[in-house]
Amino acid sequence: MKPVYTIANLRKKYQNKEVLNIDNMQLYQGEIFGLMGPSGAGKSTLLRLLDFLEEPTAGVIEFKGERFGNGREPELKQKRKITTVFQRSALLRTSLWNNVVYPLKLRGEEINGEKKEEIEKLLEQMGLTEFKDQRADKLSGGETQRAALARALVFEPEVLLLDEPTSNLDPTNIGIIEEMIKQYIKKENKMILVVTHNIFQARRLADRVGLLHQGQLVETGEKKSFFNSPEQELTAKFLSGELVH
Ligand SMILES: Nc1ncnc2c1ncn2[C@@H]1O[C@H](COP(=O)(O)OP(=O)(O)OP(=O)(O)O)[C@@H](O)[C@H]1O
Ligand SMILES: [Mg+2]
Repeated sequence: MKPVYTIANLRKKYQNKEVLNIDNMQLYQGEIFGLMGPSGAGKSTLLRLLDFLEEPTAGVIEFKGERFGNGREPELKQKRKITTVFQRSALLRTSLWNNVVYPLKLRGEEINGEKKEEIEKLLEQMGLTEFKDQRADKLSGGETQRAALARALVFEPEVLLLDEPTSNLDPTNIGIIEEMIKQYIKKENKMILVVTHNIFQARRLADRVGLLHQGQLVETGEKKSFFNSPEQELTAKFLSGELVH
């Protein structure tokens, strides 16, 4: 398998408080990686570093064979291969349709007939067609999360970073979002990292899983071995619900 990211000795500090300290980690093309860990473990921080929205305090992030860190960051063209759906998605105060096409327009892409059809199909699959002309900031929580994922997918990103995409959603919305994630990886062979608090979701979606605890990567593994025979005591504790922070 081809690594998309290789992380080495990655550190992130905020006001001298170290929140991330990962010796090494690899993420591969074609996989869904489930990132788990208690609140405050550093999951969202890691996503911001992987999206090159923030710089690491020290260490290297190798992305598609190029090394970044120490003041060196990817060019816009490279950065645009990566898209994050944030924990709390903010949609613009305009129609759902405008929200979905806005990032494409920003990039100077023309929404021609073919692209328009593609987006309409995507909205249909996500059960969003009826809300197309509705103000996006008035959508329900589940509709908002679906719209945020649709907006990310229209880019056809090579790397999709999802920060708790289904927290606080009901089973129907969770089902739609998980189905879209699975379809995307199957069709496009890209790379997806999904942060989730839900062990069942990680079991349903991920190929590999990792546990982050107090900024450190405790363990990563193939889904089966991670859940059935974790190597670390901390992982076992997390899986049994004993590790809360
Ligand atoms: N900009 C910042 N300035 C200072 N501290 C920060 C900043 N961003 C994050 N932190 C701290 O870094 C730690 C990790 O935060 P992060 O948001 O990455 O955790 P998380 O694993 O995503 O948690 P949750 O599951 O609650 O979303 C926390 O202690 C947080 O308070
Ligand atoms: Mg978070």
